[in-house]
Amino acid sequence: METVVSGIRPTGNLHLGNYFGAVKSFLRMQDEYNCFFFIADWHSLTTHPHPDNIRNSVKTILSEYLACGIDPEKATIYIQSDVPEVVELYLYLNMNAGIGELMRTASFKDKARQQLHISREGCEGDVEKEIFNEGNKHSVSAGLLTYPTLMAADIIIHKALKVPVGKDQENMEMARRFARRFNSTYGVDFFPEPASFHLGDKSVKVPGLDGSGKMGKSEGNAIYLIDDEKTIKKKVMKAVSDAGPTEPNSVKPEPIANLFTMMEIVSEKETYDFFNEKYNNCEIRYGDMKKQLAEDINKFCAPIRERILDMAANTEYLDKVARMGAEKARESASKTLNEVRQIIGFRPY
Ligand code: TRP
Repeated sequence: METVVSGIRPTGNLHLGNYFGAVKSFLRMQDEYNCFFFIADWHSLTTHPHPDNIRNSVKTILSEYLACGIDPEKATIYIQSDVPEVVELYLYLNMNAGIGELMRTASFKDKARQQLHISREGCEGDVEKEIFNEGNKHSVSAGLLTYPTLMAADIIIHKALKVPVGKDQENMEMARRFARRFNSTYGVDFFPEPASFHLGDKSVKVPGLDGSGKMGKSEGNAIYLIDDEKTIKKKVMKAVSDAGPTEPNSVKPEPIANLFTMMEIVSEKETYDFFNEKYNNCEIRYGDMKKQLAEDINKFCAPIRERILDMAANTEYLDKVARMGAEKARESASKTLNEVRQIIGFRPY
């Protein structure tokens, strides 16, 4: 079986966008691949060096993953900071990574710009110049700079071939580069190059209901798996709509298309067809449509929500899952690391 690795940073709760965009395909992957799913708590230090109750955030994500159906008997589910082997590989990768190439990545520049409080409109050289200013000399951490080497270590420590990422293409390119560089530096053919992939034809993009764009935590338009019925209803009823079409079979403007896309994702086909026909006949009542949509979202979320609450209350079980995952992850990681040590010239453990 091919190995798949995926990490998620423990920032907040899972929302419908996470579920349909990623977690749902993980449920299939765990049957078809040797999966390692981990919670990237070290990565969260790159932007939040003093995380507010990191153990709680980790516990939240763990409960939510399990409640969605990620199965610790099938996949290896672990917490990144439970696997110290990753740090040692990170160190070796950093020795062969260039400050220049790391500084040039768009994700570094973006986050550095935020930390330096310079606007996006600033000219190209701004980030580099500001970083080296006396007053800014510890504003941007080396940890942020080496985010890509840590991510590469996460992936290649299990010699993974596949990584289900969407927006993280740049970091994947870096991971491939660092795997190749290790091989060429030490004259070995040791690390395979990991590739991005997704199961199925295309990944599902869950829209936000605030008019445009996709659902996201930072967009402030997310419906969380943990949201209760009332909260869901409130969020859906507030969704942006308009006065309705005046011509039969009109093209749907984006906010309306988004409502329909959401319905396509969570509702029965008949429900979708019913409202679609109403739209095409110019008889749609968005109030009715939203009420139905809220009901269907709740129908989908309710059993998951219940399991999340059960999981979160069962600390003993969560600890057991984390311990079991760490053991399996460390077994795989230390096997790789022992060989890496020998390749570079160190004694195996
Ligand atoms: N960079 C990913 C994110 O933004 C998290 C991550 C860390 C990751 N290490 C990884 C994803 C390894 C896939 C594989 O959420």
